[in-house]
Amino acid sequence: MTQPAVDGAKDWSAIDRAVYVHSSTNLQQHLVDGPMVLTRGEGVRVFDGDGKAYIEAMSGLWCAGLGFSEKRLADAAYKQMTTLPYYHNFQGKTADVTIELAERLVALAPKPLTKIMFASSGSEANDTAIKLVWYYNNARGKPAKKKIISREQAYHGVTIAAGSLTRLKAIYDGFDLPIDRIRHVGCPHHYKLAQDGESEEQFATRLADELDAKIREEGPDTVAAFIAEPIMGAGGVIVPPATYFEKIQRVLKTHDVLLICDEVITGFGRIGTMFGAEKFGIAPDIMTLGKQMTSAYAPMSAILMRESIFESIAAESGKRGTFGHGYTYSGHPVSAAVALETLRIYEERDILGHVNRITPTFQSLLESYSNHPLVGEVRGEGLLAAVQLVQSKSPKKFFDTTAGLAKYLVARGHEHGVILRVLQNDAVAFAPPLISTEDDLKQIADLFGRALDDTLKVARERGLVN
Ligand SMILES: Cc1ncc(COP(=O)(O)O)c(C=O)c1O
Repeated sequence: MTQPAVDGAKDWSAIDRAVYVHSSTNLQQHLVDGPMVLTRGEGVRVFDGDGKAYIEAMSGLWCAGLGFSEKRLADAAYKQMTTLPYYHNFQGKTADVTIELAERLVALAPKPLTKIMFASSGSEANDTAIKLVWYYNNARGKPAKKKIISREQAYHGVTIAAGSLTRLKAIYDGFDLPIDRIRHVGCPHHYKLAQDGESEEQFATRLADELDAKIREEGPDTVAAFIAEPIMGAGGVIVPPATYFEKIQRVLKTHDVLLICDEVITGFGRIGTMFGAEKFGIAPDIMTLGKQMTSAYAPMSAILMRESIFESIAAESGKRGTFGHGYTYSGHPVSAAVALETLRIYEERDILGHVNRITPTFQSLLESYSNHPLVGEVRGEGLLAAVQLVQSKSPKKFFDTTAGLAKYLVARGHEHGVILRVLQNDAVAFAPPLISTEDDLKQIADLFGRALDDTLKVARERGLVN
C-alpha cells in the first residue's frame, strides 16, 4: 500500500523502497506497492501516517497480547534501563531481574519442566532446543540418536536449523533447506487430510501409526526428538484431532524420543490455558516460548527442560569444561523486566479468565460465516482462529494456489480497517490481542465479513465460483 509523506518532512514510502529489505515479502512487488507504514498504536489498534486506524486482528505476529499502548511495560523497561540496562549470562553472571523471571516461568510451566534458558526469538529458542537434544544424547552415550521429526506445515522459525523444522515451501525455496537430520510426518488437519468417513480419533490413530512407522524406518537409535506446536499457527491454525497428542506421546515413549513443545504462539493464554500443553494433555520434555512472554514489547524467548535433561547436560559440561552455548542477549535484563511486568499484568487483570469469557463470542462470530459460499471451515481455540476459503464445499475443493483469494481478502481487510493474515492454502488467520473487548471482536468480524463479500464478488467475476 503506497502512502504519502508521513510527517510532511519525510516520504517514508520512498525511503523504504530505496533502502529497506522486508521479511516475508515479495521484494520485487514491494518496489511497486511500497510499505504499509504504521506510526502509532493505541489499545488494539494501530494507525498509519494519515491517521487511519486499523484494528489489529493478528496482534502483529500473534504476539502483542496486551495491545499497543500498555504504559506499564514502557515504565518497566525504562526503570530497568536506568538501573542495569544490560548484562549477559556467560561465565556464571546474570542480572537479578533475569533470575526472578526464570523462577517465575519455571513456577508457571508444566510440572516436569524445572530449568530454563533464554534467547531473543522463537527461532533461536528452537535452534537451542535442537542443540540441547544433541548435547543431551551425546552426554548419555547415544551419539547416533540425533534426528528431529517435525510435521508438514509446521512453523518453528527461519534460522538454518529451526527453518528446517519448519515445513513451508517459502521457507525452503532458494535457501537450500532443510538441513540433514530433520524429518517430517503428516499434518494433523482433519478437514483437509482425513479420508472419507474417517473420524478424528481414527485420523489421530493413523497419524500416530505413521509416526511410529517413520521412527522404525529411520531406526529408533537415530531419532532424538519430535517437535510440535500444540495448535499449528502459520501452517494454518490447525487444531489437532481428538486423542492426537495422547497417541503421539505413547509412540514417542516407546522409542525413547523426546517431545519438544513449541509454545511460541500458544503460550500465555492465547488458547485459553496458560500453555497449549495443558489444553491437550502434553507432557513436554522441552518447551519453547516467545512472543506473548513480553507481549512483544521487547524481544525475548525461553527454552524450558526437564530436570533429567539438565542433569545430563550439566554433567557433560563438567567433563568438557563449559556448556558452550548462549547469545549476547540471552536473559537481557530489559526484556526480563518487561516479561515480568507482562506476567504481573496477565495475573492482576485475570487475562486468562478474560480470554475464556470472550472466546465463545469470538468463535461464534467467526462461525457465523460458515454458511458463506467461500467458507469451508472455521477452526480455532481461544483467541486463535482461521477461516478456510474453499472453491467448493461439496465436493470439497480448495482454490488453486495461484488464485490468491485469501491474499485479496486480506488486502480488502486493510481497506476496511482490519489487519488479518493470509496463511497456506487460502486460510485467513485471526489472533486478536488478549485484551480485546466483545465490541472489538464484533468490529473485527464485521470488517472481515465485508472483505469476504468483496472477495466473493471478485471470485464470481473471475468465474471461480458460482
Ligand atoms: C510456533 C512458532 N515457533 C517459532 C517461531 C519463530 O519465532 P521468531 O519469529 O521469533 O523467530 C514462530 C514465529 O511465528 C512460531 O509461530
